[in-house]
Amino acid sequence: MKASVFIAASVDGFIARLDNSLDWLENPRTRPGQDYGYQQFIQSIDAFLMGRGTFDVIRKLKDWSAPKLPTFILTHRPLRLPAGKFSHVERIQGAPAEVYRELESRGFQHIYVDGGQVISAFLSASLIDEMIFTRIPILLGRGIPLFSGLDYEIKLELLSAIDFSDGFTQNKFRVLKENQP
Ligand SMILES: NC(=O)c1ccc[n+]([C@@H]2O[C@H](COP(=O)([O-])OP(=O)(O)OC[C@H]3O[C@@H](n4cnc5c(N)ncnc54)[C@H](OP(=O)(O)O)[C@@H]3O)[C@@H](O)[C@H]2O)c1
Repeated sequence: MKASVFIAASVDGFIARLDNSLDWLENPRTRPGQDYGYQQFIQSIDAFLMGRGTFDVIRKLKDWSAPKLPTFILTHRPLRLPAGKFSHVERIQGAPAEVYRELESRGFQHIYVDGGQVISAFLSASLIDEMIFTRIPILLGRGIPLFSGLDYEIKLELLSAIDFSDGFTQNKFRVLKENQP
């Protein structure tokens, strides 16, 4: 099973303001319809795995247009979801390696791992294969970090680099696991 990250971060490495707001991702120079490759990426995955912090934000978004793929929410707390809209959503918990094995055993081939804490934990456990990382030209100064508490250095191989005309830049990295413990 392959595990990928597709995420946007400020130049100083934050993925949201401290109040979870994402307004800084909007850019008046972005051409209509530009999705930075998101739909193409989504078509390559067969399940979402995200932290409770991310789910609690996106479940409230009116325009959350993700397809109804199996969606696993990492949380130690009950989810209490209304019936219907979230029928494809399931709670999951455990150490990253256990969660990975559980999803692999269910036959998933490519999962999208989302949320700063969850991405960092999965990177530390050598479970991320690829990262598509869109850098937003802003210094937020403070916020929710993309990478926190990594246990050791992780080398990356740059697979592609795209400069969008609105100033966003996107790097695709392969995570090198050769030297990881
Ligand atoms: N800029 C972007 O592209 C982007 C993308 C994604 C998210 N975001 C933003 O990032 C913020 C959320 O990120 P975050 O780093 O704060 O949180 P997160 O990684 O989404 O979620 C962290 C939570 O996941 C649960 N969790 C983590 N590991 C677990 C495990 N092994 N077993 C069970 N539960 C586990 C815990 O919830 P419990 O306390 O419930 O146990 C933990 O508090 C939101 O504001 C979101 O909008 C931005």
